[in-house]
Amino acid sequence: MSKIYITTPIYYPNADPHVGTAYTTCIADFLSRYYQQRNFDVFFMTGNDENSIKVHETAQKLKKDTQKYTDEMADIFKQIWQKLEIQYTKFIRTTDKEHINTVEYVFNKLYQEGHIYKSYYEGWYCRNCETFWTKSKIGDNKLCPNIECQRPLELIKEDNYFLRLSNFQEKLLKFYEENPEVIFPPTRYNEVISFIKMGLQDISVSRKSVEWGIKIPFDKDYVIYVWLDALLNYISGIGYPNKFMHDYWKNVHHIMGKDIIRFHAIIWPSILMALNLDLPRKLIVHGWLTTPDNQKISKSKGGDIFNLKDFVMNSPPHLIMALRYYLIREGSFGEDVPVSLERFRHIYTSELANNIGNLISRVLALVQKNLENTVQKKSDFKFIHNVIDKTTKDFDNHIQKFELSKGIESILELANFLNKSIEENRPWELAKNKEQLNNLMFEMVYGVLFLAKLLYPIIPYTSRKIIDQLGIESLDFNPIDLERVEVRYREPLFPALGSKFTG
Ligand code: MSP
Repeated sequence: MSKIYITTPIYYPNADPHVGTAYTTCIADFLSRYYQQRNFDVFFMTGNDENSIKVHETAQKLKKDTQKYTDEMADIFKQIWQKLEIQYTKFIRTTDKEHINTVEYVFNKLYQEGHIYKSYYEGWYCRNCETFWTKSKIGDNKLCPNIECQRPLELIKEDNYFLRLSNFQEKLLKFYEENPEVIFPPTRYNEVISFIKMGLQDISVSRKSVEWGIKIPFDKDYVIYVWLDALLNYISGIGYPNKFMHDYWKNVHHIMGKDIIRFHAIIWPSILMALNLDLPRKLIVHGWLTTPDNQKISKSKGGDIFNLKDFVMNSPPHLIMALRYYLIREGSFGEDVPVSLERFRHIYTSELANNIGNLISRVLALVQKNLENTVQKKSDFKFIHNVIDKTTKDFDNHIQKFELSKGIESILELANFLNKSIEENRPWELAKNKEQLNNLMFEMVYGVLFLAKLLYPIIPYTSRKIIDQLGIESLDFNPIDLERVEVRYREPLFPALGSKFTG
């Protein structure tokens, strides 16, 4: 069985997750379920990046013990992911003992092998972005150059440990020139290449006199730089070094927002080269969810009109599925995506309620009212096979290219086609010719089941609900085996939205 390893970034738990965090996580869960359905052995990991100064500061502000605070936050993240049906294989926390062991092991190894050295450091640090900035990047105001942040920088003057990033410049360029498909989409590839060509400088990978974080095993005055610690989650989570699951590693897909591409495309592969490990198979980079006036939705600046925690804790499953659908549907890799309740309402109403929901309700009602709840296979499949074959091919083609929106459009075309077939074949006029009606409706039911199968990675609850109404046990049904389907009950999948979603 082919293996695939899918990761999200690990999130700073200095605030509850918001709709932007859910965006990355839902896309990753979609891919994970998609590959599972296609018989891949999938390892899907998400988790929290806990050893950050800002996490510690947040705990202090709340007068909580930091470890306890991260425990509570991990529970909140897990509850929210559970509501969104994020089906991870592992939830990693950087305060996990196994992770700390890996980080210590790697730091020792890189130091012993000369990839890390100690030297004097003088420079500027942003606590919020957990980033060291070179002089050339900062202006006279000494504010963080990240336009999303622009907080005052801290001047750091201390002996520090450095990673010899400069050593990897040529090797990285060669790797990317030989394997341009690793970074998706290509615009991000170009950004990375031009950044490398500007010249890579060694980076500081320690902080002195910081209370919270993983200490350098042989120099306990220092804490290991949180990004070095965090990136290592990707291998510690699958057992590196002692129980390393190489087969997953060989096919790792890292999913992330555009804000952290340089860490993943430059620092991370350099560390992996230093450790003689394979480089990532794919770095899949999406744009930001923004407010309608193009501001990044973030923990500090807000803008999450859904108020994710509230939404998932207090909404019925069909609305939570609608949010998943909305995020995956809008999931464009590259462009930023403005989020609005109007757009959510529009997608909900036109695609989920009027197209998919309506189709299923019509098909089920026709079978209930005219065929005593039951359809049976009496003739060979006719029109439905070709259209399903085409939909599957279109869907797979798009998803393999990470064109999630277009993939969903091919599912909508199938639903459109089935809706149209009902209108054209006028089954209500066939009520007297039961056999003909049965044959037509059997194909329609089959189409609906297939639709449920395709929808599974996007809206798993709805998908299960469809097959449950049809009395089918699992989505692994095989067309040959499907002889008789009995409608058990009928409930609207996507009832009209209340006034809350008028925006
Ligand atoms: N802890 C680091 C990542 C370490 S990975 C080894 C970090 N954490 S974070 O909490 O700031 O989360 C960053 C990620 O959250 C982004 O890369 C992105 O995937 C997601 N998003 C946060 N806000 C987002 C939007 N407004 N829009 C889209 N994605 C967003 O950086």
